[in-house]
Amino acid sequence: MMIVDEGVDAVELGLLPDVEFPEDNPYTKEKAELGRQLFYDPRLSASGEMACASCHDPDLGWADGRTVSFGRQRLELQRNAPSAMNSGHMDVLFWDGRADSLEDLTLKVIENANEMHGVGDEVARFINDIPEYREKVQEVFGQDEVTIDAITKAVATFVRTINGGRSNFDRFLKGRPDALSDAALRGLHLFRTKAMCMNCHHGPLLSDNKLHTTGLSLYGTPREDLGAYHVTLDPQDSGKFKTPPLRHISRTGPYMHHGLFESLMVTVRAYNGGMIEPRAKKNRPNDPLLPKNSPLLHELNLTDSELNDLVAFLESLEEPHRRVLPPELPPFRDQE
Ligand code: HEC
Ligand code: HEC
Repeated sequence: MMIVDEGVDAVELGLLPDVEFPEDNPYTKEKAELGRQLFYDPRLSASGEMACASCHDPDLGWADGRTVSFGRQRLELQRNAPSAMNSGHMDVLFWDGRADSLEDLTLKVIENANEMHGVGDEVARFINDIPEYREKVQEVFGQDEVTIDAITKAVATFVRTINGGRSNFDRFLKGRPDALSDAALRGLHLFRTKAMCMNCHHGPLLSDNKLHTTGLSLYGTPREDLGAYHVTLDPQDSGKFKTPPLRHISRTGPYMHHGLFESLMVTVRAYNGGMIEPRAKKNRPNDPLLPKNSPLLHELNLTDSELNDLVAFLESLEEPHRRVLPPELPPFRDQE
């Protein structure tokens, strides 16, 4: 039986269901294919140099392998790029939950001053000048002009097709007991019981789709990031970040929103200590923004060998390597 704290409504781990496509943006093969081209096309950014795939690279687990991403003009962003894989299953998107759909997220990334730095309608006009895109938008959406709405719908549709589900853990769930090593099996048991991970990482994605404070906001330092507070301006949300899904996690390090945990071992060790709670600063007395750690975190007192087992389980969530070829991008003008 799994062990979680009272009041936590944990869903059992399991196989990924099929992704649901929203009613106002149903799946078609042509739309996903158009979205795939746009995902790889740097012409979606104002500088013409940055594509979604620049920071969500299939060879790097659909992330970028960096502590924090490089944005426009190689400015360092504040946060680590999460994998785009399986994000079609999430309805709380970005580390601070500020997007609730992939359409919304795509527009926010395109318009983010530090990322693609565009204006939706201008990007649409620019893409509209590329004949092949105009034709495809006509085919897919039945409209003569490329609009930002069509762009975000196509990109979101493609992202919803990037899904895992072939890890050793999935093979195990499908009835292959030998798919997990003994260490991974022991780790699975710990994950579901005394390591208390299921308090927040549960269900097929190993995420509760919620925000929690885990003490990582670097409070009072130059790199302080109060997470969801910056979105809601509610002091209760200070330091809250989304529970990330853990599938394919061994390939998407470094970890956490700040990318400062370089390995899974470092990460489970931090949990083992119960996660350090930020302390009040002398120069900010009675600060309502001082983040308070979630009561769902506990000092675990796991042994080194148990921590190794936990890591072995997390590694069993890795998807087999598949080479993903980038699509051919349409030329600026019809070629003679
Ligand atoms: C400059 C690098 C960069 C580019 C370009 C970029 N991203 Fe991201 N992406 C990030 C970072 C960093 C985050 C986390 C930001 C945050 O949560 O505040 C992120 C978050 C995401 C997430 C959220 C995943 C989750 O679990 O919450 C998705 C999905 C995503 N990006 C898709 C895209 C798409 C689609 C594009 C192109 C329109 C794109 N990204 C372009 C760096 C980038
Ligand atoms: C209180 C809820 C909670 C509990 C309990 C919890 N986590 Fe997390 N986990 C989170 C949140 C929230 C984050 C993101 C924090 C951040 O980036 O600031 C996270 C991040 C992670 C990451 C990094 C993911 C990434 O993409 O960078 C790993 C790995 C992880 N947790 C594993 C575990 C394991 C293993 C356990 C059990 C020992 C556990 N977690 C227990 C909420 C929780």
